[in-house]
Amino acid sequence: MQKRSNFSNKLGFVLAASGSAVGLGNIWRFPYLAAQYGGGTFLLIYLILAVTFGFSLMIAEIALGRKTGLSAISAFKSLDKRFGFLGVLAAAVPIIIFPYYCVIGGWVIKYFSVFITGGVKAAAEDTYFTGFISGTFEPLGWFFLFIALTALVVVCGVEQGIEKVSKFMMPILVILTIIIAVYGLTLNGAMEGLVYYIKPHMSDVSAKTILAAMGQLFYSMSLAMGIMVTYGSYMKKENNLESSVRQIEIFDTGIAFLAGMMIIPAVFAFSGGDRTALSAGPGLMFITLPKVFASMKLGVFIGVIFFVLVFFAALTSAISLMETIVSFFMDKLHWGRKKSALFVFILALIMGVPSSLGFGPLGFISWMGMSVLDIMDFVSNSVLMPIVAFFTCIFVGFIIKPSVIADEVKATDGRFRAESLFTVMIKWVAPFFLIAILASSIASALGIFKI
Ligand code: PHE
Repeated sequence: MQKRSNFSNKLGFVLAASGSAVGLGNIWRFPYLAAQYGGGTFLLIYLILAVTFGFSLMIAEIALGRKTGLSAISAFKSLDKRFGFLGVLAAAVPIIIFPYYCVIGGWVIKYFSVFITGGVKAAAEDTYFTGFISGTFEPLGWFFLFIALTALVVVCGVEQGIEKVSKFMMPILVILTIIIAVYGLTLNGAMEGLVYYIKPHMSDVSAKTILAAMGQLFYSMSLAMGIMVTYGSYMKKENNLESSVRQIEIFDTGIAFLAGMMIIPAVFAFSGGDRTALSAGPGLMFITLPKVFASMKLGVFIGVIFFVLVFFAALTSAISLMETIVSFFMDKLHWGRKKSALFVFILALIMGVPSSLGFGPLGFISWMGMSVLDIMDFVSNSVLMPIVAFFTCIFVGFIIKPSVIADEVKATDGRFRAESLFTVMIKWVAPFFLIAILASSIASALGIFKI
């Protein structure tokens, strides 16, 4: 058998895993959710969930990968034959997400190119975004470009490709985010937005807010889809697992927090404190923000760096998705890296086309009011991910037992500081929350109540 590739050191591992975690979820999804669900209240709940629930699940996944040295599709099975199905389910998630994630990645490159070629005014028009995504060849072209760039990095391998790109892109991403956030705060009226964003109001706390924060946490930390299992399998025993997870968490949550800082106060300033601008939902980044940039003095410049940073974030996440799928084929069918990567590239190209065309030529395909891309997103994030996470908890909590994971965490220096928190979360708390998320997303999709 081929020797498994490794990240060269702890920093390489942490940056690559953070590269996976920090993505469109942090920059595009987190700010609009925070804006919709009461600003500071959402933020506080999210933080609490991140250090308890997110922490425990991430420890479990990375430890499973490192212990078995396998990607998810084989890791569960190697520890208990009856749980082979869980590996297959976990493998299905990135296969569904990857193609449509690249479609959105393509939109990001498009916006970058519009800003850099001086098209800010046009991009600020109300109909610009819908006009663009309902096209046929243009969105397809950007999608192809994005997926080709991702494939290029994955073909180069773990150390030469993924680690190198992450070590270069992640620090730049942090710096750019800070620059934009600080600039945004200097705008007239931005302070009010900042207060809304960071001050919790207990009256906003509701089950809906908690569930929304929880769903976001999963997506943002790239949990329940085998990614962290695969990356864990490339991690060396001498690197400390617990402190790595803490660092990834701080990275991911820190960038999400800063993304909110860069977007919410700026939108507040732009709309003169009118909150309806904030409830734009998914359109916040592609529709509202270009207007905000168009109204700023340094808007073109800020817009260009903004889309570069979103591009970096999206690319490193897409790389982790593709790597995870590639590793399934390498582990299961014993294919080489190049062959697996080529296969996944072609598969994702084919699968992504309907998502890309679903806003235009294939617009007639819809299910419960959702376009093809939304359906993919719903099935993977709202249905499969909670199921995979639930069974992962059951698997770790009651089948192999939390002590097996704890031993793996202790492999470096004999310590696992948060062991009791981990055990209680995995066995008793997380499974209940996960069932609640699943029930609520299905109920909201069926229109029983709107989340
Ligand atoms: N965690 C990534 C983000 O926040 C999203 C992602 C989801 C990445 C699934 C990979 C896989 O954008």
